[in-house]
Amino acid sequence: MNYIRLNNGIKMPQLGFGVCRIQDLEKCEEVVLKAMRCGYRLFDTAAIYENEEAIGNAIQKSGIAREELFITSKLWVTNNSYEGAKAGFHESLKKLQLDYIDLYLIHRPLGDYYGAWRALTELYKEGKIRAIGVSNFFNDSLYDLIYNNEVQPAVNQIQCHPFMQRKPEVVLHQELNVQLEAWSPFAVGNYNIFHNEQLVKISKNHQKSVAQIILRWHIQRGLIVIPKTENFERMKENIDIFDFRLSDEEMKAIEKLDMGKNEDTAYRLESLKRVYAIE
Ligand SMILES: NC(=O)c1ccc[n+]([C@@H]2O[C@H](COP(=O)([O-])OP(=O)(O)OC[C@H]3O[C@@H](n4cnc5c(N)ncnc54)[C@H](OP(=O)(O)O)[C@@H]3O)[C@@H](O)[C@H]2O)c1
Repeated sequence: MNYIRLNNGIKMPQLGFGVCRIQDLEKCEEVVLKAMRCGYRLFDTAAIYENEEAIGNAIQKSGIAREELFITSKLWVTNNSYEGAKAGFHESLKKLQLDYIDLYLIHRPLGDYYGAWRALTELYKEGKIRAIGVSNFFNDSLYDLIYNNEVQPAVNQIQCHPFMQRKPEVVLHQELNVQLEAWSPFAVGNYNIFHNEQLVKISKNHQKSVAQIILRWHIQRGLIVIPKTENFERMKENIDIFDFRLSDEEMKAIEKLDMGKNEDTAYRLESLKRVYAIE
């Protein structure tokens, strides 16, 4: 496993395991235990995924030392305020059955996220969180948060995949010393990604699958990556990416797949309506 040193000095695995949309708690616990057996140590959940209990149960049953694991959770937007963040964090901690969370993120920059950041800063200073960060923050909200606060976000988790490569964001985050983490690294399987001609061609050069090529590309760009799968064979496949390297030419060929895809205004409005449950 590769590790990334975050801007506060702590080490985070570069490859982890996402559990979004695995809402059945028994199923989620079983999936996480299997992933642990495959060697995954970084797990990415969120209050809104409604499966933190399952991660907690899997941790208890795994027999893996707590310090070997790296657990991320996220504050949902309805708790984006100083008091809400304290309450939301303690609720997550209880469900995860932990004394501390390794990385705790503000899920989206909505509502009073400045108040939430103050609360996270206090929890971080108390040692209840090892690193604090954000998710889905883009240029203006990220700059603003950084320049108006003493404690800087260690991580920003945003959507990134071969068709939406976030090239300006990669440069910006390097400049700001904030680690980028890619969510939906496979574009959730959309755009026929696993059968893309260019990716298939590169996969044949290495006798690896397209999924492995995509993950290796994220890793070589310096991003942290958290693929999700419920399938045991794919779990093994997705972690088996540290015994080969993509050449500069292959990295450049993948770079050409960028369609600059981004959430458009209509999508963002729809998503806001869902967040606030507006009919
Ligand atoms: N911060 C945020 O706002 C945010 C938003 C979305 C997601 N996330 C995080 O990012 C994680 C990953 O994103 P995601 O779950 O949206 O999508 P993803 O990882 O891009 O894609 C998951 C899909 O790929 C399939 N898959 C996985 N490995 C495969 C392989 N080796 N070969 C073929 N298919 C494979 C999975 O199917 P099977 O399960 O059937 O294998 C699933 O349909 C989430 O679980 C969550 O932790 C964060």
